[in-house]
Amino acid sequence: MNSAREEAWRQVFDAAESVVDIGSLFANDAKRTESLLFTGGDLLVDLSRQRIDAKALGALIHLASVCHIEGARDRMFAGVAINTTEGRAVLHTALRAPIDSSIEVDGVNVVPEIHATLNRMGESVVRLVDGTHCGATGKHIKHVVNIGIGGSDLGPAMANLALSENRVTGITSHYVSNVDPADIALSLRNLDPESTVFVVSSKTFTTEETMANAHTARAWLESAMPATPKSDVVSRHLFAVTANVGQALSIGISPSNIFPMWEWVGGRFSLGSAIGFSLMCTIGEENFREMLAGMHEIDEHFRTAPLAKNIPVLLALVGIWNRNALGCTTQGVIPYLQQLGRFPAFLQQLEMESNGKRSTTDGDLVELPTSPVVWGEPGTNGQHAFFQLLHQGVDIIPVDFIGAARSNATGVNPEAVRSQHEKLLANMFAQASALAFGAPGPSDNALALGEHRVFPGNRPSTTILFQQLTPRTLGQLVSLYEHKTFVQGCIWGVNSFDQWGVELGKVLAGDVLAFMSNTSLHSQLDATTKHLITWCNAHSATP
Ligand code: F6P
Repeated sequence: MNSAREEAWRQVFDAAESVVDIGSLFANDAKRTESLLFTGGDLLVDLSRQRIDAKALGALIHLASVCHIEGARDRMFAGVAINTTEGRAVLHTALRAPIDSSIEVDGVNVVPEIHATLNRMGESVVRLVDGTHCGATGKHIKHVVNIGIGGSDLGPAMANLALSENRVTGITSHYVSNVDPADIALSLRNLDPESTVFVVSSKTFTTEETMANAHTARAWLESAMPATPKSDVVSRHLFAVTANVGQALSIGISPSNIFPMWEWVGGRFSLGSAIGFSLMCTIGEENFREMLAGMHEIDEHFRTAPLAKNIPVLLALVGIWNRNALGCTTQGVIPYLQQLGRFPAFLQQLEMESNGKRSTTDGDLVELPTSPVVWGEPGTNGQHAFFQLLHQGVDIIPVDFIGAARSNATGVNPEAVRSQHEKLLANMFAQASALAFGAPGPSDNALALGEHRVFPGNRPSTTILFQQLTPRTLGQLVSLYEHKTFVQGCIWGVNSFDQWGVELGKVLAGDVLAFMSNTSLHSQLDATTKHLITWCNAHSATP
């Protein structure tokens, strides 16, 4: 670490020595709320209930500037190969850039191809909806099953649930990711093969889970339509999204059903690419483009707002503060919106696969802890499950609360929607307040119950609000966290865009599979693994 960075970190740690509790921070500053509310796009971000003061914030912003966040950001947007271990540019922002932008990779403007792909996706959706693209036996397509895993699943699956009120096409999307056969079996159970298409979504088109599920899906289709030529079944019922177009062609997928993605889009940053095709099939092209517009709005905010008012930067800095200065090891994300139920899982991959690293971009070991464990579930459900620990547990766990002023739920009595949504918000605000300020416990029985009734408070949270969950606000939220992740990676000095940590397990799974089918093979596997395999082999026979 260079000396400017060392000195900036020292100032951050110094600030942590003197920071008082959240209650006192409010008591000492009548303007605290206003001074720690920030906006970007349609998002309102409240940092006032973080245990942070002006000295700490100043030190953190200084840290961001000595880590050259603005320069790194500009290099990312310009298409420089900042993913150094893979030699790739990082251009998910190009996916949502307006058509008249020019963003070059190796001297070629990539924006026209991005928009051409979006147009092709839109045309395909129209053909599926109007029946021009029908199944091999002539049936109208009603179901789209996305087969993909990690970034080729979590983004569209999360957004498909989030935007359930924006599903306008009449097509239903399903998501199969796990190599566990139960996943695909469950998804296909009630589907009619003749009116179902599959989208095999895989940047590499080599991922074991996805290839296995694609194979099973194809066999399911072919056996349901025995009288139809197999080539028709494949060309009518299989789509692919991939950077490995040749591989998709080689299994017979028709060129017009293949949408490209590019090496410069990381899987976990790929929602705005054709990986979102299954989503577009349900919400339509217009809504999909609205989501992209929301992403672009926050891209522009991130690109132009000064560090001290830049919401992804501030969210990142607060995360750094909690992780490195206050020593918090996990980060809760609690959306008070049922439709954001998959958002914590999406963020898990985004943040933990990006910044769960122990080596710096220079290949040295990091000197400070990096990504916390990110986890979460929607409120109010979480309140009745794990909030006990958040309020009275030994560990301090920062929480991001995410909520909307207005519900978009339909299909039940509007008055019930209004009143239930009010209760939902009341709970979110109450939780953030209870975490921050706590309560001494009732005086009448305090002696009898001791600490049992005491809420210590001083537990930090951020609240992110918007008017309503829409394609645009969802896009903004995604982009907010994408850029937060990037900023944190820059400050920790790690490459947020590779994922070497997932490789060893994949290689070993291959060795294990070989040994499972022939336990007499010479194998380097450890003794316990061999023992458990032998046990499973002995117990796997059909009873
Ligand atoms: O193994 C991890 C990973 O490479 C993720 O980064 C990625 O999102 C996922 O697998 C799926 O990869 P692909 O889209 O190439 O199938």
